[in-house]
Amino acid sequence: MGGAFPDGFLWGVAVSSFQVEMGRGGNADQSDWWAWVHDAENKQRGWVSGDVPEEGPGFWELYKSDFKLAREMGCNAFRMSLDWARIFPASTEGVSVEVHRDRYGNIEKVWIDDRAMRELVTLTNKSVARRYRQIISECRRCGLEPMVTLYHWPIPLWLHDPIATRDGVAPEGKRGWLDEGTLVEFAKYCAYAAHAFGDLVDLWATINEVKIVSDHGFLDGGEFPPGVNDFEAFMVVMKHLSMAHGLAYEQVKRWDQASAGSLGPSSVGIVAVLHYHEPVDPSNEADVKATLFNDYIFNEWSLNAVFRGDYDMNADGLVEGNEMLPNLVKGCDWIGINYYMRMRVMHVAKGGDPRLDYGFAPAVDPSDIGFDTYPEGLRWVCDWAYTRYRRPIYVTENGIADSADSMRVRYLTGHLDAIQKAIELDGVPVRGYFHWSLIDNLEWSSGYKVRFGLYSFDSVTKRRIPKASATVFRRIAKANRLP
Ligand code: BGC
Repeated sequence: MGGAFPDGFLWGVAVSSFQVEMGRGGNADQSDWWAWVHDAENKQRGWVSGDVPEEGPGFWELYKSDFKLAREMGCNAFRMSLDWARIFPASTEGVSVEVHRDRYGNIEKVWIDDRAMRELVTLTNKSVARRYRQIISECRRCGLEPMVTLYHWPIPLWLHDPIATRDGVAPEGKRGWLDEGTLVEFAKYCAYAAHAFGDLVDLWATINEVKIVSDHGFLDGGEFPPGVNDFEAFMVVMKHLSMAHGLAYEQVKRWDQASAGSLGPSSVGIVAVLHYHEPVDPSNEADVKATLFNDYIFNEWSLNAVFRGDYDMNADGLVEGNEMLPNLVKGCDWIGINYYMRMRVMHVAKGGDPRLDYGFAPAVDPSDIGFDTYPEGLRWVCDWAYTRYRRPIYVTENGIADSADSMRVRYLTGHLDAIQKAIELDGVPVRGYFHWSLIDNLEWSSGYKVRFGLYSFDSVTKRRIPKASATVFRRIAKANRLP
């Protein structure tokens, strides 16, 4: 240990809108995620914890003091997201735009002109737009470079009825990422966001974790809306989310041409969650095969789509005919890596689709929720992503569910050491590190008992309480080096 980070390295913490904003009024109740966590049937099935966002830390009101905390912790950057359903609580489908399709019928481009933009502006919730401007301005004022994620999971209810989709009765147009129409509306929302906040934001992240949204929502059925379990649906969502990155990229580049700081006018990346996969028994061919499939489908597939236009819809590892869509490649200025853990993969015969014949061994060094702590894996995924796609990297999330705060310091220093080595020894341009998270927050369907924060908060007063690990983070970030 003891290595230094490059000058200008970004030190940040990360949060997302749905997980932290509510708790002090300002409820955002128009999204699929809101409906999902409040649904009685989901609670009864044990698919959601029963915890709700309106008991959250209240960042919507308390952002000023949270930015202050981040600044005091040595941060010079802050990752947050916008809630699409807050900004557009009512449908934008009536705003006509030009939709161009390729010869296979895929949406290739959405063209939004000034008239359409004026209409979008009239449809926004004005006080929400004002508040987001206040939040991002304050972030900058505190000396924190904002990284703004456009899609960190809630979708407006007018586009996705997650309960009807779960029950197989949602009509087209209400099935979220299963429907192509969602791509068009997403392009409009991204154009609006770039237009409205572009003068304050240079660093934009399009999609947070294609993999998690697709597999938790459409393959593992239950934890995430809409709780579907269907490989075909999973692949459609993987495709649509990868396309959504390209559409968002184009809109942000077009509508944000203002520099807010030195990184501007707009630097646009995608955030991928990358796991370090390893066969339980490297001498067992079936375990190795299952590991390679996990690597391919979960780490590689959507990045291949974004960077190469490879849309391998039958997931056979070959990109043939109409799966080759270089026309859908729009650009990606950097890769955001969310790295949490190692997955030890083994073959498990399930009697269904043989590709899905895999399972995971219990963690060697488990967090509160069984994630397998493995810092070396972060160096590996940084090396892998850079070697393969040649873009600068931000580690956009990394953290541990550790309610006792007894593992976090080791986790933090181990992972930072891995990044430092990737930079210094392997020559990977890692430009920043965002710890997940500043504060304990609503861990989606699992609720508040899962605690990733450097700070906890009092559920009644909302007072922030530092954990010992926050001190260690501060020491490292301020010194720009490991102890
Ligand atoms: C997500 C976060 C989440 C974290 C911890 C990431 O997949 O982006 O929203 O809280 O993991 O599970």
